[in-house]
Amino acid sequence: MAASLFAGAQEAVSPQVFIYAPNERAGLHIAQLADNGWQEIGQLCSSDYGTWGQEKRMYHPSLCRAQDGTWRLVFQINDKSPMFAAAYSKDLVTWRPQDYPIMTSRQCLNPVVFPNPDGSFDIYFKTKGGDKRWTSATTDFRRFAPDRASQISEDAWLRDTATIAGKLMEGCLFELTPAELQTVTNHFQRQAADRKISQERMYEDARNPNMPHLPVSATLTVTGQEKSISDKLIGIFFEDISYAADGGLYAELIQNRDFEYIPKDHRGWNATTAWDSRKPIVVVAVDPLSENNPHYAVLGNDTIINEGWDGIAVKAGDRYDFSMFVRNITSDKKQFIVQLIDEDNRVIAKTDLKTQNKDWQQYSAVLTPRETCPRARLVIIGLKDAKAGIDMVSLFPQETFMNRKNGLRKDLAETIAALHPKFIRFPGGCMSHGQGLENIYHWNHTVGPLQDRKPDFNIWGYHQTRGLGFFEYFQFCEDIGAEPLPVLAAGVPCQNSSNNRDGIGGQQGGIPMDQMPAYIQELLDMIEWANGDPATSKWARMRADAGHPAPFNLKYIGIGNEDIIGTVYEERYEMICRAIRAKYPDIRICGTVGPFHTPSADYTEGWDFTKRHPDLQYMVDEHYYESTGWFMHHRDYYDHYDRNAAKVYLGEYAASTQTKRPNMETALAEALYLTDIERNGDVVEMTSYAPMLAKDDHHNWDPDMIYFSNTEVRPTPAYEMQRLFSVYSGDCYVKTVLKAQVEREPGASADQTPDVSHRLGASLVHDSKTGKKYLKLVNALPQPLILTVDGLTIPEGARCEGFEGRPEEQTVEVKSIVLEGKTLRLPPYSFRVIEF
Ligand code: AHR
Repeated sequence: MAASLFAGAQEAVSPQVFIYAPNERAGLHIAQLADNGWQEIGQLCSSDYGTWGQEKRMYHPSLCRAQDGTWRLVFQINDKSPMFAAAYSKDLVTWRPQDYPIMTSRQCLNPVVFPNPDGSFDIYFKTKGGDKRWTSATTDFRRFAPDRASQISEDAWLRDTATIAGKLMEGCLFELTPAELQTVTNHFQRQAADRKISQERMYEDARNPNMPHLPVSATLTVTGQEKSISDKLIGIFFEDISYAADGGLYAELIQNRDFEYIPKDHRGWNATTAWDSRKPIVVVAVDPLSENNPHYAVLGNDTIINEGWDGIAVKAGDRYDFSMFVRNITSDKKQFIVQLIDEDNRVIAKTDLKTQNKDWQQYSAVLTPRETCPRARLVIIGLKDAKAGIDMVSLFPQETFMNRKNGLRKDLAETIAALHPKFIRFPGGCMSHGQGLENIYHWNHTVGPLQDRKPDFNIWGYHQTRGLGFFEYFQFCEDIGAEPLPVLAAGVPCQNSSNNRDGIGGQQGGIPMDQMPAYIQELLDMIEWANGDPATSKWARMRADAGHPAPFNLKYIGIGNEDIIGTVYEERYEMICRAIRAKYPDIRICGTVGPFHTPSADYTEGWDFTKRHPDLQYMVDEHYYESTGWFMHHRDYYDHYDRNAAKVYLGEYAASTQTKRPNMETALAEALYLTDIERNGDVVEMTSYAPMLAKDDHHNWDPDMIYFSNTEVRPTPAYEMQRLFSVYSGDCYVKTVLKAQVEREPGASADQTPDVSHRLGASLVHDSKTGKKYLKLVNALPQPLILTVDGLTIPEGARCEGFEGRPEEQTVEVKSIVLEGKTLRLPPYSFRVIEF
């Protein structure tokens, strides 16, 4: 029916709505017919297909209503993929995550959907050549039949039209009941109200009429009620993003040591990137050191120079282990000179190597620079013309974290260790499930001799050597007393993957079902590798051969990361969980509920799925990166969670302001929220700030917890806040009630007294093992807080640490504070933790 037919619809009892996409980037919108014509209400959902930038487009949405009043939506995603998008909603407001059924024709243009009397649906679409095809979908809109040619008339593609904001739009007209329309408008009102409160920022307090202008008094009453909470609340999330692994925590100083860089890692990169020579560097792949590492350089009377990772930072007198594999090609013997040179090309360390084998063999030497240099380079000089292949050229400081071979950069690892994280999630978020099916992280490519590990490109635009692999991650966990929490793909790659050669992007249809058993076996092998007995298991023997005969005692495994909780994901996730549950019933599985908090589609369906399958997982991983205002105004987020459902792992979160760097404001917003997390420590089992590391000049993401260069480590206010919550953590929460009395401005009435409760936080926990109590206090107000504590005696001389500063300050100094008297005085924008 055309919109013009509704011109006189003012008399109609049922509200008329028009559902349409204003343009391909705008998503699905709804407008309502009012006395003054069609009025836009808001966006109902948007395309989740494929990469950001290139994809995420919605063309020609077509909707229909099922007999039970629920909604089905299909739309075209682009003009080159053999898929369309399909979604389901009960109320137009909450949409089930989109599915992208794969058809046989390369394009699925202009899909239209119609309900059938038996509850199924027919979907018609066109190909580029104008052919018509059709498929049918089950009532639940999850299964789609193979597509076939169709003779349906062109009328199937007639769309309704409406003029909205002066523009003629194509779309679909519907009548809603007043209650249905109310649901929709309520949703938009809630969204608008939420957006408004989430805009509050501390750095704008001077202009905020709701902020007090005088010191605020408050009483903290300790009720005495207690409950057990998780003793693993604060952990870390290590992802190889922003050069966190290679060039970062992994202490290797040579870049592209294996000559395996390719343009897929990064546009313009190749096997000789990071290497320099006066002559073209010869790289071949004949008789390689390893089939996983096929390329190597051939040197005659040549000199090649490695620039390291933005230079090689070395210290005078420190010892550096140099090694490389060499295969003499034209003679039995060859000699090399190896040097470190400074920025002025002066030699600051030197050794020579004599090689004597036609087979690949590793040669080593120690280089001890006589001067400190932040940007040294490594020089390899081949003497005489005899040709030799060189590969896996490596330079490691002898001083690594805990002096491990193939170890971690000491200063960075020590900074991380000082957080006393209770667990480490690794090896990444998006990096774990990868850019497309072929880039899914396979843990078994990352263990064993370094030369046999399989490098790959990193979704964040660089190269993974996998020198920091599963063995090294597990060992680091053990070294710092953290539970390992490896996260591996749920049989689907990153939902933002680009189109593969068949034009299939996003989840790319998931690992094909016939390959799922092998993938599941790979996950089971990982558990066996970590926990098995070397006497009976080949995987455990690999672990023992690598130097760790004792089991790593793995207890948790993460499956999936921020996936679209669509049918492709759910089927694979369930298969994986059932196999792990059957073989390793004690392993605690952590699922995912997508990239956003409630009420996002993945969150809603993820939690529904979790509750429908309580036997599958122990906890689920929630992620949200939000403004400081959002964190300050959602302090009750976990208060109403079902205590009998799966536990929560808040695996990625960070507060940010316009500067996108952690500062006092973001740290205080996180601290407020963490006091609420402690209060909900019976349902939240773990949390980790994200991302953790970012190397200068290589940021993929901001804010981050720790910034670093080759010579510096710069923890941020976010780091200090995590550290204080981690070091002073307990396993029992003691209920407290914090009540503030804000002084009224002269002449102000009672209803003008601002509510500042969202700016104040308190949490009292104790550690049943040590008997210690920790009281954390947050004052995120621009005024001092004068606090009286009721029902608790804080002993004279109790240890207190804390910090304060202006909201925009990006550094903090944590101080020991002397407590005086019974009243606690917290300066504006401050944090305190008291131990007693
Ligand atoms: O933390 C950075 C990224 O944020 C993670 O890789 C991903 O899980 C999330 O989108």
